[in-house]
Amino acid sequence: MANTAKFEIDGKTVELPVLRGTDGPAVVDIRKLYAEADVFTYDPGFMSTASCESKITFIDGDAGILLHRGYPIMELAEKSSFLEVCYLLLHGELPTAPEFEVFEHNITYHTMIHEQFDRFFMGFRRDAHPMAIMTGAVGALSAFYHDSTNVNDPAQRMISAHRMIAKMPTIAARAFKYSRGQPFVFPRNELSYAENFLRMCFSVPAEDWVPNPVLTKAMDRIFILHADHEQNASTSTVRLAGSSGANPFACIAAGIASLWGPKHGGANEECLNMLTDIGTVDKIPEFVQGVKDRRYLLMGFGHRVYKNYDPRATVMQQTCHEVLKEVGAENDPILQVAMELEKVALSDPYFVERKLYPNVDFYSGITLRALGFPPEMFTVLFALARTVGWIAQWKEMIEDPSQKIGRPRQIYTGAPARSFVPVDKR
Ligand code: CMC
Repeated sequence: MANTAKFEIDGKTVELPVLRGTDGPAVVDIRKLYAEADVFTYDPGFMSTASCESKITFIDGDAGILLHRGYPIMELAEKSSFLEVCYLLLHGELPTAPEFEVFEHNITYHTMIHEQFDRFFMGFRRDAHPMAIMTGAVGALSAFYHDSTNVNDPAQRMISAHRMIAKMPTIAARAFKYSRGQPFVFPRNELSYAENFLRMCFSVPAEDWVPNPVLTKAMDRIFILHADHEQNASTSTVRLAGSSGANPFACIAAGIASLWGPKHGGANEECLNMLTDIGTVDKIPEFVQGVKDRRYLLMGFGHRVYKNYDPRATVMQQTCHEVLKEVGAENDPILQVAMELEKVALSDPYFVERKLYPNVDFYSGITLRALGFPPEMFTVLFALARTVGWIAQWKEMIEDPSQKIGRPRQIYTGAPARSFVPVDKR
């Protein structure tokens, strides 16, 4: 393929460099286009636009491939742990045993939150959605940890990364406890990341949480599956917010806000609500007809990048069966609805022609519910796990010498310039 692309407009020819990554389609570098041809490109929704260069995650949507730093998600989900994946995303390589020991120590010893921070939760209504609490609480971290908000200091960048990975489970568990009217549970250093989170959610003063290795492993694997996903809406939000030099806590709060939408991370909650509303297998044909009539979407299906099975969905489905078996809910009617709905959709021309396959959210709600979480916590768990991806991408952007403030342009289609008319003359 050529190293340059020619762009012709109004008799003017501009030669544009063609860039190539390790994998994926070639990219036409249009940075000089406006200066040389006086035109913008138009791509709402970023259908054909690479917004940055990144070494973190690669997706081949047609082949259903997802790699973190080159490692397939299936292998990481099977053989690694969430904290090891965190290290990999942040540092680019898997840790050696001593490196991992230091990293695990750094995360474990940052899990507590400032005592005054706990009072912050009390300001929320008891029935507040935990994602609303997360957005506010994570943004408020910048009011508590001033010593890690200087984005130009590499040490502060790393401490803020550790703090966020460490404190997110504590904050998420508090959002959950607050909505239940139960006292907060403090982190314990001897527990693993997933164990600590489950204990902070499910222990009560009258009865301690009882560890179950199958459920803890499932929680850890769910965190791995959500750890990063390239330049999705929330990650792009984090990068755009960070491009102005905003502090990392504020940027991650922006990412959480973006994630909450039902087309993004909010889909897991919506998907379980959808499956519950369908209720029984006999209602599926009527529901599918409603999707085809465009009255609503089949939540947990479809993806901007995957035009094949989302590899995360494959692992999630397997995890779902393991968890349901462990808690004795193999015959959960909602699981039966999900499996039949998947079968129907995958053989229906409407979904086949549009290349709509299950995504990570299709089976995650059923799994998380079996772990004991209510639907409004599902997106919170997604945010908890995605924090490492956001912070790794944010760090990569800050450390990229070609980084500039994000500033898209537009096609203006409003009124042409006109003179102000006083109110008595309108
Ligand atoms: N149900 C029914 N039709 C759909 C669906 C769906 N879930 N998704 C896409 N379509 C149709 C869409 O109507 C369009 O049809 P047509 O060409 O006839 O107008 C066609 O498929 C292409 O869809 P699109 O909306 O142009 O695709 P997109 O890339 O802009 O949207 C998406 C991707 C994920 C927002 C969308 O598939 C969707 O809304 N899915 C449901 C929500 C969901 O499960 N989101 C989780 C995504 S994975 C986790 C994450 O990263 O957050």
